[in-house]
Amino acid sequence: MATEGHAAVAVAGAARRRVLFFPLPFQGHISPMFHLAGVLHARGFAVTVFYPDFFNAPDPSRHPAFDFVPVPDGRVGRGDGDGAGGDYLQATMASILALNRRCEAPFWQRLAALLESSGGDVACLVADAHLLTLMDVARRLGVPALALRTGSAASFRIFAAQPMLRDEGYLPARESELDAPVTVLPPAPYRVRDVTMTAGVGGHAQEQIYEIMSRAVAAVKTSSGLILNTFHALESAELAALRRDFDVPVFDVGPLHKLSPAGPAASLLRQDRGCLEWLDAQSPASVLYVSFGSIASMNAAELVETAWGIANSGHPFLWVLRPDLVRGGAAQQAAAVGLPDGFDTATRGRGAVVSWAPQDEVLAHRAVGGFWTHCGWNSTLESVCAGVPMLLRPCFGDQPGNARYAEHVWRVGLTLDTDGGGELERGKVESAIRRLMEGEDGAGMRRRAGELKSGAAECIAMAGSSCLSIDKLVNHILSL
Ligand code: UDX
Repeated sequence: MATEGHAAVAVAGAARRRVLFFPLPFQGHISPMFHLAGVLHARGFAVTVFYPDFFNAPDPSRHPAFDFVPVPDGRVGRGDGDGAGGDYLQATMASILALNRRCEAPFWQRLAALLESSGGDVACLVADAHLLTLMDVARRLGVPALALRTGSAASFRIFAAQPMLRDEGYLPARESELDAPVTVLPPAPYRVRDVTMTAGVGGHAQEQIYEIMSRAVAAVKTSSGLILNTFHALESAELAALRRDFDVPVFDVGPLHKLSPAGPAASLLRQDRGCLEWLDAQSPASVLYVSFGSIASMNAAELVETAWGIANSGHPFLWVLRPDLVRGGAAQQAAAVGLPDGFDTATRGRGAVVSWAPQDEVLAHRAVGGFWTHCGWNSTLESVCAGVPMLLRPCFGDQPGNARYAEHVWRVGLTLDTDGGGELERGKVESAIRRLMEGEDGAGMRRRAGELKSGAAECIAMAGSSCLSIDKLVNHILSL
């Protein structure tokens, strides 16, 4: 671990200080927060994690070095948020807003109690940037608050640019202009659909997402610092733009999964480690890994097209089929009943299907040669750091923008052609997999992904940019 060398040079006094953490309770936000907590713990800070105990709660027994404070309230889960309606994207947005509201009073009580008993050792709160209300609570109680943005620097620039994108007439988006280029955010290669965060016109979700993004920007502007899970070699121009546009210190401390010992303990679901043994028996760079993160979903027809595209490509594959991946009536049994008749026979001996994988280790396995991803930021970062090229099929939020960077800036990915309509078709899936795994294009992407992997390794090495940023963050926290 790159942090081990640094543990010995923990800044004097850090051992007496405590950093509080409050992650947003979704896997893609919890993992980087726990990794960051692990990094700061290795630098000598005591760690206390606050968490809403009604939804995606972490298991304290898996993090024996950390203290935990549950923040109780009525249920707020994805789909339970006020005004959630039937749409899962809106439901997620609604749950973020509801979480802020409902946790405000109980968080105040618990933080006040901790401050009273702690003997003045609390240095700051690090909260997910989506938790503006809770950061305000901390400040009102005299605790400085830093914001962790778990997405890329480029995606946060989209958040900050929303008012300007409205002034310039790009947003609210019109159907006929979704593929028009956005020229006001150089060097980003965005089209209008990449900056809506709904990947389309959006309707009511557009206003809800606008509110979510405005609140995240306000959280950062009023914070004592912005922490980003990215690294200089990947996003130097975007980091420079954020430093220019925001009057708070910016710490690019990623890729955090490479720096922290927290690893699999941060996973909310049990990871099926048997797939690593299956990978051991496969040839180098032969396996396509398929996973769509923890939230993205597809309908039953898309599942069928995905399955036959994979089967017809002839390539070995490891597919994460989450129990809730498929929307609709049979969702909960999708892993058991969703795969089409004949799929098993057609792929016997060259495929493995699991409900949740140790993704980081899978991507680092020598047998994996490509990753079909929904382009969540953690998945994108994990793939880049493992030198694995990607087949890109973004869904919503920051994912379309991440895909544009992967394909057009870093040139380590290939977007799955869905005819602009978003529908999957088995023939296109098959040919895209072949292009990624067999062709010249794939070889070029693999080579460039390898270069980014080296860039990441340099950033997290001793005296690399990410390690220096962590040094600065430690000193900053001690100075607050
Ligand atoms: C969400 C958003 O979708 C994403 O765009 C945003 O940047 C963060 O929040 P999610 O959709 O879950 O996250 O995707 P991603 O960011 O890729 O995070 C998924 C995490 O789950 C990754 O760290 C990945 O390693 C892990 N994972 C995924 C597993 O551990 N096992 C699996 O089988 C699949």
